[in-house]
Amino acid sequence: MRILGIETSCDETALAVVEEVDGRLVVRQNLVYSQAQKHEEFGGVVPEVAARLHMEKLMDLVAEVDVGTVDVIAVTAGPGLPPALRVGVECAKTMAWLLKKPLVPVSHMEGHIYANWLVREGWSEPEFPIVVLLVSGGHTEFILMKGHGQFERLGETIDDAAGEAFDKVAHMLGLPYPGGPQVAKLALRGDVRSFDFPRAMRDSAGYEVSFSGLKTAVLYALRENEERIEDEGFRADIAASFEEAVVDVLTAKMERATLEFSPKALIVAGGVSANVVLRERMEQLAAKHGVKFLVPEFAYTLDNASMIAAAGYFRRHQAVDPRTLASDSHLDFTKL
Ligand code: KG4
Ligand code: ZN
Repeated sequence: MRILGIETSCDETALAVVEEVDGRLVVRQNLVYSQAQKHEEFGGVVPEVAARLHMEKLMDLVAEVDVGTVDVIAVTAGPGLPPALRVGVECAKTMAWLLKKPLVPVSHMEGHIYANWLVREGWSEPEFPIVVLLVSGGHTEFILMKGHGQFERLGETIDDAAGEAFDKVAHMLGLPYPGGPQVAKLALRGDVRSFDFPRAMRDSAGYEVSFSGLKTAVLYALRENEERIEDEGFRADIAASFEEAVVDVLTAKMERATLEFSPKALIVAGGVSANVVLRERMEQLAAKHGVKFLVPEFAYTLDNASMIAAAGYFRRHQAVDPRTLASDSHLDFTKL
């Protein structure tokens, strides 16, 4: 079975073909066109601009795929920027109708989780239950995954998402959008012990986290040291201490969940799972507790359509009539 994935929820126009071979999902084509550079001048993604750029690019990507061999079409139906989502959904509906193939609406967040089911070297299928850390620009959630499509949200951020905090700190440091990778790069040269930034809710019961106080603490540290703002060493120390605080809180909550739910595996998903320090720390945590650890390959941590095809594979029995799919339905995967 071949699944075509379409993703246009934010600033990546993406199309992919994933093939199921003996129950394992193999990426055959993974096409991603990033609009990030085009949004840089605005300091963030402008929904209408994103939609226009998706319209310009999507058909070029479709032309690169052998649509005749596709069995199922999976498309991101939400959450995301409504004007951007509409482009992908309308394209998917038209293709499903013309090719007479089933159309499967997919949650973008579920897609991030299923990026962990794309086979790669050394990959083997994880057993349930799994504790998932979902960290992206818009979400920071701890999820207990009891089976395919069975998600129980344990807790989430009460204010900023981790990726959002990275982006805001990048902005304070005058780094270009998208800031997360830039902060991480700068942090490599810094000392994590330079600033003792707050770790709100790290040791609290439950799985809520908060990053807005941390963000403010970074702002104050920058203001108090205004004369050093151009000093690369100082900037690197701020970035490293900030990154350490985020990773520390996320790791502590994952450890709490590991102890409470005795999972068979730990998974990290979403754009922030590209962060090397976070990946290393989670791997160490899993090793400490003797559980399997999965994180997507770098290419599949950020927005892509292979992950949407993977989620679509597990949801294929929920195919809908193309005429009934609203293009900005903001599907909540816990209710799917
Ligand atoms: O999943 P994603 O591509 O889009 C959403 O669904 O939100 O995640 C994007 C987020 C941005 O906030 C970006 O700054 C962050 O992921 N990010 C990182 C890194 N790479 C991307 N944050 C920290 N370290 C990174 N290496
Ligand atoms: Zn995403």
